[in-house]
Amino acid sequence: MADAKFVPLSSYHEYPVEEMKQRAATFYADMQRRRSVRHFSDRPVPREIIEDCLRAANTAPSGANMQPWHFVVVGDPAVKGQIREAAEKEEREFYARRASEKWLEALTPLGTDEHKPFLETAPYLIVIFSQRYGLTSDGQRIKHYYPAESVGIATGILITAIHNAGLVSLTYTPSRMGFLNEILGRPTNERPFLILVVGYPAHDAVVPSIRKKSLSEVATLL
Ligand SMILES: Cc1cc2nc3c(=O)[nH]c(=O)nc-3n(C[C@H](O)[C@H](O)[C@H](O)COP(=O)(O)O)c2cc1C
Repeated sequence: MADAKFVPLSSYHEYPVEEMKQRAATFYADMQRRRSVRHFSDRPVPREIIEDCLRAANTAPSGANMQPWHFVVVGDPAVKGQIREAAEKEEREFYARRASEKWLEALTPLGTDEHKPFLETAPYLIVIFSQRYGLTSDGQRIKHYYPAESVGIATGILITAIHNAGLVSLTYTPSRMGFLNEILGRPTNERPFLILVVGYPAHDAVVPSIRKKSLSEVATLL
């Protein structure tokens, strides 16, 4: 602590209690509208919107502030095609052999299968990598703390930022993702975390009819 340097918390802004209540309720109402979308339009999205959403994700807290994430934004149709081809190969294996009966049963209400056209239709795939350890410019390893938790939090902020901007996303996790390092040329200290498919919904997009647990089911207030 002796060498720690501090600056005033000038970024904090206090709201009157009534305004806080309003803000919390409004934010909840807005988040309730977020859905994972699997039918995308090919309408282009300005890249600066994606960049600002990534800036928001990059503000996330992380273990010892190591920011153990890397985001690859794929807009190139040829690269999206390569990702779709490799992902669908894994998916065919998954649905035919790798998935347990129980897993397939849990997926039934979502209506998913091995076909992933959205990987080419959506304007952007944001491939999120988790860095198991960092590397200095001369190749020394830097320890990362809680990378999974940190990348999960950053991803949550990214999903929220995309929703807030007025776009939709799909959290997509092919059952094996090693092909993403190869296609995107990422180093071995990085593990694919998930693919976030981003864009406008197709005009006839539908979503599974599912319910969310109530507050009393997911929270204990002591
Ligand atoms: C870690 C994680 C992995 C997911 N993987 C997939 C996936 O591979 N394919 C898919 O269609 N949806 C995937 N989803 C989306 C979930 O199915 C979806 O969030 C859930 O059904 C709730 O629906 P909602 O997001 O519309 O509230 C994933 C979500 C999370 C958080």
